[in-house]
Amino acid sequence: EEQKAEESSDVDTSSDEDEDEQEDEVNNTTDMSECKETSSVCQETKREVKVEQDGEKEKKISDQEKVQKKPSEPAIFIPVDRSPEVQEARLKLPVLAEEQVIMEAVRENPSIVICGETGSGKTTQVPQFLYEAGYASDGRMIGITEPRRVAAVSMSHRVAKEMNLPTQVVSYQIRYEGNVTSDTKIKFMTDGVLLKEIQKDFLLQKYSAIIIDEAHERSVYTDILIGLLSRIVPLRNKKGMPMKLLIMSATLRVEDFTENQRLFRTPPPVIKVDARQFPVTIHFNKRTPLEDYTGEAFHKTCKIHRMLPPATLQILPCFLSVEEKADGSIPLYVLPLYSLLAPEQQAKVFRPPPPGTRLCIIATNVAETSLTIPGIKYVVDCGRVKKRFYDKVTGVSSFKVTWTSQASANQRAGRAGRTEPGHCYRLYSSAVFGDFTLFSEAEITRRPVEDLVLQMKDLNIEKVVNFPFPTPPSTEALVAAEQLLVSLGALEEPPCTGRLKDMQRAKLSCPITPLGRAMASFPVAPRYAKMLALGKQQDCLPYVIAVVAAMTVREIFEDLDRPARSEDESSKLNQRRARLTQMRRLWAGQGASLLLGDLMIMLGAVGACEFAGCTPRFCENSGLRYKAMVEIRKLRGQLTNAVNAVCPEVGVFVDPKMTPPTEHQVVCLRQIVLAGLGDHLARRAQGEDLVDPKWKNAYKTPLMDEPVFIHPNSALFKTLPEFVVYQEIMETSKMYMRGVSAVEAEWVPQFLPQYCHFGSPLESPSPWFCSSTGTIRCHRSSTFFRVGWQLPAVEME
Ligand code: CDP
Ligand code: MG
Repeated sequence: EEQKAEESSDVDTSSDEDEDEQEDEVNNTTDMSECKETSSVCQETKREVKVEQDGEKEKKISDQEKVQKKPSEPAIFIPVDRSPEVQEARLKLPVLAEEQVIMEAVRENPSIVICGETGSGKTTQVPQFLYEAGYASDGRMIGITEPRRVAAVSMSHRVAKEMNLPTQVVSYQIRYEGNVTSDTKIKFMTDGVLLKEIQKDFLLQKYSAIIIDEAHERSVYTDILIGLLSRIVPLRNKKGMPMKLLIMSATLRVEDFTENQRLFRTPPPVIKVDARQFPVTIHFNKRTPLEDYTGEAFHKTCKIHRMLPPATLQILPCFLSVEEKADGSIPLYVLPLYSLLAPEQQAKVFRPPPPGTRLCIIATNVAETSLTIPGIKYVVDCGRVKKRFYDKVTGVSSFKVTWTSQASANQRAGRAGRTEPGHCYRLYSSAVFGDFTLFSEAEITRRPVEDLVLQMKDLNIEKVVNFPFPTPPSTEALVAAEQLLVSLGALEEPPCTGRLKDMQRAKLSCPITPLGRAMASFPVAPRYAKMLALGKQQDCLPYVIAVVAAMTVREIFEDLDRPARSEDESSKLNQRRARLTQMRRLWAGQGASLLLGDLMIMLGAVGACEFAGCTPRFCENSGLRYKAMVEIRKLRGQLTNAVNAVCPEVGVFVDPKMTPPTEHQVVCLRQIVLAGLGDHLARRAQGEDLVDPKWKNAYKTPLMDEPVFIHPNSALFKTLPEFVVYQEIMETSKMYMRGVSAVEAEWVPQFLPQYCHFGSPLESPSPWFCSSTGTIRCHRSSTFFRVGWQLPAVEME
């Protein structure tokens, strides 16, 4: 037996076996859809026959013959009615020269990779190639995924315009909105949207081809999609409904996709598109400013403006404002470009500047690859990138400005040579450039993965560790994710018996629970999904939905701590701060509601905003970001639908104008929040710790040695409750908890027994949350974490 076990564990790690396992699992998922497939195939045949009767007989028959001969290859040419200007502009794009090569490769291979510099025409043209070759003519669609919403929307508009087709045919779908219809043939979407669709239909039967765009960005969803599609494409072939996969990258670094045996057994061919790029002269700085690179960028900009002939200038990427009159002969027309910017503001960069001005765009890395702004001649590159970093163990996140990679520095420089020879001014020395990493790291290796693990478990991929990731996350991160999901009740607890090795393996292959499936259907991270799953109690659901929506949308409040740029502004800013602080105090409420803390402020903000009709003016006056509030409104609608779909008998109706929760509901909300954020518990420092002044007003968390704090802007800054849960810890000047809510001491042993030691403090091996008297009563039977709502499928304890 010993030997058998040994053998099977070997088998487990061999990649071939993995693939078979994968396919089995895949088959499980798709058993149900077998019958649907047959029916849709029949329908298509009918449709073809009908077309034949309607159309010119002879031509159709020959097409039909071709189709029959090689059912996988659409043999039709679909004409597109482009305007002469569009046609002319297209012909200048390097990708056009490769159309034949690309389409032949597509015909002959299930998957291909296309590399070509930004601006070579990949995103706008390749979908059109597929369309013309008939990939959207059999009732299926061509799907294109983008890591950014901005790109999905703007590219769909652009392609619709180029093809002279309405947006019902060339459409987009992003998290909250889209214009997809039954006539849609080309569909741009974010990678997250396609992942959700795979959950509903593993074979993606609506699509004839999927293009994964911007694969070089290595966004987490893009990586996962490539892993999944590496299995879906062969399956579709096996079932006689071929599908094509095109991976598009702006850099040549594609070995993670092509030379990855776990991903593709036969490496997909790589087609390189030669960029028709004008030469860009690179100017390095002699010295490298370490601190004030924004000031340096400003000076460089002014200098270029004074000395060099007029042309568009782009500063990439920095966080800078050019307000002073740069001393040029013509005024500088300065526009910002970053992803949180309102869309109509973003669109301005594509329009010509007012006559007699020179356009200067100050951008973050949005402009590095996903959007090409026409006619840029000078690029000022400060060499930095602002990235979110997570601590692998504690999950503490911080935004850090670090050096970028050589690959992205080169991308940035490339932006200057789109229409004529250009110049790139690097605000760092060539020696510093030499020290940059060659490429940016895949995002998946840098962030927690519990959301992905849950999504994969819901796809019946039980051993996530065996999934063919282009770059796998660390085992450490996977174990942490499974543990969190177990504690949330989304996965079954691994057995605690058997040999150590088996136990370790079991930890990485916990099966999903019915509650986990419900949670996976909510488009939010597992901690928040858990809150939604509990929200029914005491009619709290509308509030839970509002709070979850507010927590998942980035930055709903205006930044009160931003530095003032002048004396005058400083006093105005102080006034505004005082008024907005007052406002937040109002939303935080009094008495019981105050203990819901920052989440009550969020709830109050959402309520007040809806009451006022969610106008830009109200948001501006109340220190709320309008774009965020609109997003919250949409997300509330979407979450309400999701909850209703999982649990129709609940039948939540979200009244846009919420009345404030009752005291009783606030207590319930606090417990629901605790259920989701239980692993983010913190207790006020006490006892010996207080000897050290660094622990004054500080909190302790289970995983960290350092003190963490409640931010002065928090509703609970003055209250300092003994126990709190927090949404996240951000490291700025100190470790600050964000989204803090108070927890009653007696809830801790009741709901989080895993953090408690029950007994006398003297016996405790780790006295972290031990009650000082050792007399906290324990209600282990009511492990809150296992309780879902009264779904027939969810077990109650
Ligand atoms: O995907 P890739 O970076 O290879 O190129 P693309 O996005 O397809 O862009 C091809 C060309 O279309 C570029 O020269 C863009 O400047 C232009 N374009 C545009 O003028 N307006 C848009 N909204 C999108 C693209
Ligand atoms: Mg592109």
